[in-house]
Parts: sequence; structure tokens; C-alpha cells
Amino acid sequence: MDGNGRWARQRGLPRTQGHRAGARSVRAVVEQSVRCGIEVLTLFAFSSENWRRPQTEVSLLMELFLNTLRVEINRLMEHDVRLRIIGDLSAFSEKLQRQVREAERVTRNNSTLILQIAANYGGRWDITQAVRALALEVAEQRLLPEQIDEQAIAARLSCADAPDPDLFIRTGGEKRISNFLLWQCAYTELYFSDLMWPEFDGDAYLAALNDFSRRQRRFGLTGEQVNALAEA
Ligand code: FPP
Repeated sequence: MDGNGRWARQRGLPRTQGHRAGARSVRAVVEQSVRCGIEVLTLFAFSSENWRRPQTEVSLLMELFLNTLRVEINRLMEHDVRLRIIGDLSAFSEKLQRQVREAERVTRNNSTLILQIAANYGGRWDITQAVRALALEVAEQRLLPEQIDEQAIAARLSCADAPDPDLFIRTGGEKRISNFLLWQCAYTELYFSDLMWPEFDGDAYLAALNDFSRRQRRFGLTGEQVNALAEA
């Protein structure tokens, strides 16, 4: 969700106004996901590196997460959305951690859409914590080194039970992955939009989904092999 700051600056507003406007796009994209039958939506809300921003901006973002959680919980229930937060939550305030756990608990039986919010998340952090968990299991002799394969690593990542993402969307004109789901995005289709996140509405999202639907995903096979498999 890139471009909140620039959207605000272009309008002579403080960056924090951009984040508030960004929250409206979050709502539009979540609702469009439900309408389109998307099963898992992951939003990159706050990276491990975002702590380095000015204190006032970090505080506003935390406040926005708290308020949005509080205000939106009924709407999540209405739309049968299950909320899950991925990332190292230990750095957040006790209050935010409590509220997050409560929102996850309240929505845990919803199943139309899983909404994952990545907060204090980094792809390298995720792989590191998975590798550390494996090392511990080996040290405690619950796992043999030769049992460590791709599946063993994937099973210890933050969103182990969710499928790998089909589509990655980045707004704001930059063409980078910026430490998002690094392991999980190995075969993900990439889509970059020049719109700033607050401008990215339901229609812009639909355009990205339509673009994705025209792609041929080969997963290392030839185009002919993929066509033959589709016809079988
Ligand atoms: C990146 O834009 C965006 C963020 C760091 C924060 C995203 C947060 C929201 C959209 C608020 C609501 C979110 C939830 C989940 C309730 P940027 O500030 O890096 O923009 P810039 O590159 O133009 O400076």
C-alpha cells in the first residue's frame, strides 16, 4: 500500500492525512475482495523498517490501526472476514497487541475471506524466525537435519496455512517487492500501479484482477505443456 505520503504532499496535506485516506482504500479493497470471491488478501501495513519514520507518523499509524480495528470489527463480522495479523507483534504496545488478539479471536470462525495484515513484518524476518524454529527442533532432537526441506521451512513461516499468493500488487509507482512475503512470492504474478494507495479504489483493484486473469502461469513448464494440462 505505497504512496500515502506522496498523495498527501501533492495536496499540501500532512503525510498523516494520506494514511487516513489510505484506510478508506483498505475498506474498498476488502469489500471488493469479498465480492470477487478472493480467499486470502494480505495487506502490507507496516514493515520492520517503518519504525525509522518520524515518531509522530509512527504514533499516528498505530492509532489508526487501533481505531480501524475497533470501528471495522462489526463490518468484518458482517462480511464473514477472518482477521489475522502477521509479523513481530512484540514491539507493539500492550494495548494494540491485546486488541489484535481479541479481533483475531472474535473473527476466528469467519471463512469467506482471510484478511492478513502484515505489521512489523519483513520477509527476511519471517524466514529467519522459521529457520530459528527449525534449529531449535534439531537441537532438541525433535527433527533430523535431513528432514529440513522446502515444506519444512514453509510450514514454519507466518502464514503457513495460507496458499502462496497468486498476485502481488504494489501501488505508488515503485517497482520493488520491499521485503514482502519473499519466500511465498517465488511464483507470484507481479502487478505495479502508478496510482497512489489512497487513489486505489475497487475499480482499480478489479483492473488488476482482470490483468492477472489474462496471464499464463507456467511454474517452470513450457506454454505448450500448460495448455495441454488445461485441456486434460
Ligand atoms: C506506505 O505509504 C504506507 C504505509 C507505511 C502505511 C499503510 C497504512 C494504511 C493504508 C493505513 C490503514 C491500514 C490499515 C491496515 C488499517 P508511504 O507512507 O510510504 O507513502 P510514500 O511512499 O508516498 O511516502
